[in-house]
Amino acid sequence: MADRRPLVAGNWKMHLLTAEAAAFCRRLAPALAGRAAEVVVFPSFPLLPAVAAGLAGSPAAWGGQDLHPEDAGAHTGDVSGAQLADAGCTWALCGHSERRHDHGEPDELVAAKVRAAARHGLAPVVCVGETRDERRAGATWEVLARQLGAVAGAAPPAFALAYEPVWAIGTGDTATPETAQEAHAFLRRELAALLGAERAAATRILYGGSVKPANAAELAAGADVDGFLVGGASLDPQGFSDIIGVYG
Ligand code: PGA
Repeated sequence: MADRRPLVAGNWKMHLLTAEAAAFCRRLAPALAGRAAEVVVFPSFPLLPAVAAGLAGSPAAWGGQDLHPEDAGAHTGDVSGAQLADAGCTWALCGHSERRHDHGEPDELVAAKVRAAARHGLAPVVCVGETRDERRAGATWEVLARQLGAVAGAAPPAFALAYEPVWAIGTGDTATPETAQEAHAFLRRELAALLGAERAAATRILYGGSVKPANAAELAAGADVDGFLVGGASLDPQGFSDIIGVYG
């Protein structure tokens, strides 16, 4: 994986309560000393203060699972990039498939969110990935190229890309290391075409979709796999630490 620093991100989705988040941080923080990988967790918005308190002074960062494209305004239920930054976030997830599918977020909205993140100094983790039907129909490359093409111009240099095949998320049906590497290599070639070879070589491409301690090492062996976006397995501090530890 060239000289890219591995990045392991935990997406807690709509799980955990404040006391559980605090307990998680108490377990995780001491396990991070000397780890090679950069670590970030994405808790639900109400948990951000507990996570900020629990991870302060540790090498781990935290981010928002979503953000509104505008900086403030009459948008009930939404959270702005300014509010995330105010909560100590340095990252934001953009375009997770559960946002794209549950909330009907189109590519243009994902791009607007990436721009909003950049305005507030938040590094976006931009998620792309095909559904099972799209893969079966032979449309994987077209879907990935479209999703990446929509956001690449908006992405700040610090962004990371996450390849998350929708059929692998929460299903236990992890992509094989070969399938993941093939998609990551495709995405890096697309990045090179869109942003130039230098940025393509510097951008971390994470794999997400049923990553577990048991399969992380073989997935990490892919030359273009630069880390993970972990859902279910990131809720267990020991399992999450074990995945981080794959990188030494
Ligand atoms: P999973 O989720 O690890 O539970 O499959 C990954 C994700 O949605 O980011």
